[in-house]
Amino acid sequence: MSKTSRIAGFYNLSLEERRQKLAALAALDEAEIEALAAGLPAEVADHMIENVVGLHSLPLGIATNFIVNGREVLVPMAIEEPSVVAGASLAAKIARAGGGFFANSDEPVMIGQIQVVDAPDPWQARVDILAEREALLAAANEVDPVLLRLGGGARGLEVRVLDSPRGPMVVIHLLYDVRDAMGANAVNTACERLAPRIEALSGGRVFLRILSNLADHRLTRARVVIPEEALAFDDFSGEAVAEGIEAAWAFAAADPYRAATHNKGIMNGVDAVVVATGNDWRAVEAGAHAYAARDGRYTSLSTWRRDGRGHLVGTLEMPMAVGIVGGATRVHPTVRTALKVLGVETAAALAQIIVSVGLAQNFAALRALATEGIQRGHMTLHARQVAIAAGARGELIDLVAEAMVERGIVRIDEARRILEERTR
Ligand code: MEV
Repeated sequence: MSKTSRIAGFYNLSLEERRQKLAALAALDEAEIEALAAGLPAEVADHMIENVVGLHSLPLGIATNFIVNGREVLVPMAIEEPSVVAGASLAAKIARAGGGFFANSDEPVMIGQIQVVDAPDPWQARVDILAEREALLAAANEVDPVLLRLGGGARGLEVRVLDSPRGPMVVIHLLYDVRDAMGANAVNTACERLAPRIEALSGGRVFLRILSNLADHRLTRARVVIPEEALAFDDFSGEAVAEGIEAAWAFAAADPYRAATHNKGIMNGVDAVVVATGNDWRAVEAGAHAYAARDGRYTSLSTWRRDGRGHLVGTLEMPMAVGIVGGATRVHPTVRTALKVLGVETAAALAQIIVSVGLAQNFAALRALATEGIQRGHMTLHARQVAIAAGARGELIDLVAEAMVERGIVRIDEARRILEERTR
């Protein structure tokens, strides 16, 4: 997308007008616009899972204002919770003052685990397996010639001896570069392929052969620097907002009870893009929370600190196992349109947008919590929807919504009354 992602008043447009605007900005063709409206055809759904009886839909919104690594990007988000798309868009708008979000990713290396039980000498088995490392990697590479041609394939082999409740057990980690796929299928197949050789080398019995969702070789990190002056709003100074966000983060860093909610706020943004792009949000969730507990205590996935100049610096690092090929990304028309809107050509570029949105969402939540509380924003948004339902258009939407929030009555009859007063 060459144009800006900063679309003033996008929320004031009708649904059809928004679609047309998006189509123009992202150069969508008729079929792609249709995919936004129609969603997944039932015949396609019938081939995706078992015992299909229908479809389950979610709203698909567009977060505006994002700049990620210098590129303007409109972000499709599929989510049922109000305020999330607005929160991300607001955070991204504020972040523009510092140039937006900067993100990078590790190589797309997933971990496949092979469990060996009943090895007569687990430590000897470890040595014997490692001695055959090159042959094992070559065998894993035979599984997927296409992936190999694209530059993926086996990258390494680690062997651990675990002290489990059932006694010592050998666990092999196959490190496998899956390029632009999420990678579960490729990794699981490679692990299954290695099993007979591992049994021969260890003298034990191979049991589980499965990908690990703690994809800590495939991390993505995003960073944002927000100048203090860009943080000021209403009666809150930039300094007060920066201090408040730092204090809110420190709470999450110190306390798992708060960290769970803090990280939930991050996942509001992350999951919405993961779902919109047809990726496995359970895998991303599992990886995120396991990573948040990697030091033996569950903590915040993000950090928020003020630098020497008083600017607020936010970072977020987490596993991000998402793909742009295979699975739902191939068959779901809305997913294909979402990927086109994002304009991503690699899984890493998608991961970097997702983690940036997670950081933005975290900022939006902490900014609200550390200042006016989240209910006010929720009420204002809700009031806008009620104003629109009552027939308000253009500037009248905000006028009617603000009047309702001020009066403390957010109802359609009140919206109609105010509308009548203002247009009389
Ligand atoms: C609500 O969906 C998310 C928040 O609870 C996140 C947070 O508390 O940081 C607002």
